[in-house]
Amino acid sequence: GAAPANQTGDFLGCLAVNLPPGIVYTHASQSYPSVLESAIKNLRFVTPGTPTPVALVEATDASHVQGAVRCGASYGVHVRSRSGGHDYEGLSYRSVNSTPPFAVVDMGAIREVRVDVRRETAWVGSGATLGDVYYAIANKSARLGFPGSVGPTVGVGGFLSGGGFGLMLRKHGLGSDLVLDATIVDAKGRLLDRAAMGEDLFWAIRGGGGGNFGIVVSWKLRLVRVPATVTVFTIRRSRDQSATDLLTKWQQVAPSLPSDVFLRVVVQNQVAQFESLYLGTRANLVATMAARFPELGVNSSNCIEMTWIQSVLYFAFYGTGQPMERLLERGTKPDRFFKAKSDYVEESIPRHVWESNWSWFLKDGAGLLILDPYGGEMSRIAPAATPFPHRQALYNVQYYGFWSESGAAASDLHMSWIRGLYREMEPYVSKNPRGAYVNYRDLDLGVNDDVAGVASYEKARVWGEAYFKGNFERLATVKAKVDPDNFFMNEQSIPPLPN
Ligand code: FDA
Repeated sequence: GAAPANQTGDFLGCLAVNLPPGIVYTHASQSYPSVLESAIKNLRFVTPGTPTPVALVEATDASHVQGAVRCGASYGVHVRSRSGGHDYEGLSYRSVNSTPPFAVVDMGAIREVRVDVRRETAWVGSGATLGDVYYAIANKSARLGFPGSVGPTVGVGGFLSGGGFGLMLRKHGLGSDLVLDATIVDAKGRLLDRAAMGEDLFWAIRGGGGGNFGIVVSWKLRLVRVPATVTVFTIRRSRDQSATDLLTKWQQVAPSLPSDVFLRVVVQNQVAQFESLYLGTRANLVATMAARFPELGVNSSNCIEMTWIQSVLYFAFYGTGQPMERLLERGTKPDRFFKAKSDYVEESIPRHVWESNWSWFLKDGAGLLILDPYGGEMSRIAPAATPFPHRQALYNVQYYGFWSESGAAASDLHMSWIRGLYREMEPYVSKNPRGAYVNYRDLDLGVNDDVAGVASYEKARVWGEAYFKGNFERLATVKAKVDPDNFFMNEQSIPPLPN
């Protein structure tokens, strides 16, 4: 339940006694605002009215995570964890309501990446970014990689907790499909590895959404083999260069290409940008595209051969010649307001819908769609094998609106743009339930409004089944077993299954 003010005081006293000085920041600390903001990516949650944590703990060791959780459990202060801070709704560091009070354990300093080239595995701290992971792997071997996020600043902790996909998903599946072991601090403050946590909890943390079951400290990953040469292209086609026909056909082609070809589309303004990573040479890619998608007109001069790590830099920063060290950048200040939503498409959307969609695009370019094709390895994995259920979809749609002017007018314009487009798309996307990707968190789908007490399972099903379909009930069962008091909770956390 909600902790009265004196409990917050007792909690802070407990942190002071049990954690080393210098890692706990309260509202009284001068550097609290800068520590809080250091990992915030969305300006929507940097306002004076945003409820913020009563304490921020910058953990550098698993024992600090345990200490913070034990103090929280003793004094009724919930603890949220933050790894990379990319949560689309900011739930790793802010709450929607000011009660109950909560604290944040920031994992950013637990970021070691230990690569074992011979075994083709790595142990990775939750606070590492995917960029840290790529960098550490490439430093040790040119023939190993990991199917992580496109953006290198995304945190490993949240990414793997929600599934996680990127440019190699058709070949290797989700990032969470490659987790071999993990260490987690549970609601009692125990530090458990896979053997100690058991297979139910180990199933749940690989895609069941961050912040639900405990705080994952580290992950053991299976690395994947990458070829010495990969090939990339970026081809832009405007609406008057047959982009509508290309988009219509892309829906059939991209999910059924050989699994070593990834071809996604970013639609913005009146242009469809086709972006491809192929795990092989230019000649093979040109031949495959000529056979499967001749309308796109891919030729040798569009294609660039490079190493896998160079392709990571290419898609992260849109260009060649970037130094590898750029993967270690985390970004220090939030620089934009944004709102995103997602859908899954199971049957091709008719051409006329794409044609009418063009009129939706904002003239300032501040709204875009990202279409990520599935198929390949994704469709070979059973929907119940992990919490992530959208294995059979043709593709994922991300709607993304961003703006830089503060104030209600800009916010209203962009929020209504994205909500309007989302409404418009309803007839053409997955139904019963309309699916969504948990790592593109969207509070429009619903929230636990009884965040202070036992959340309503029936209510949570609405968004829970959008994210997890038939896996939601099993997630709630695991939750009831490992965290019956709902210590780890947020506005969209999984409630314990009522008995
Ligand atoms: P953050 O720290 O905000 O955590 C997200 C959630 O997980 C919160 O609920 C948090 O409490 C919880 N959590 C964090 N650490 C935890 C831990 N150690 N143990 C348990 N729970 C924990 N996604 C994708 O699949 N592919 C992509 O290419 C991209 N690209 C991308 C780019 C950019 C710029 C953004 C802002 C986001 C993405 N994403 C993405 C979405 C991303 O996967 C999603 O936001 C992740 O949850 C971010 O993880 P962080 O650790 O950064 O977030």
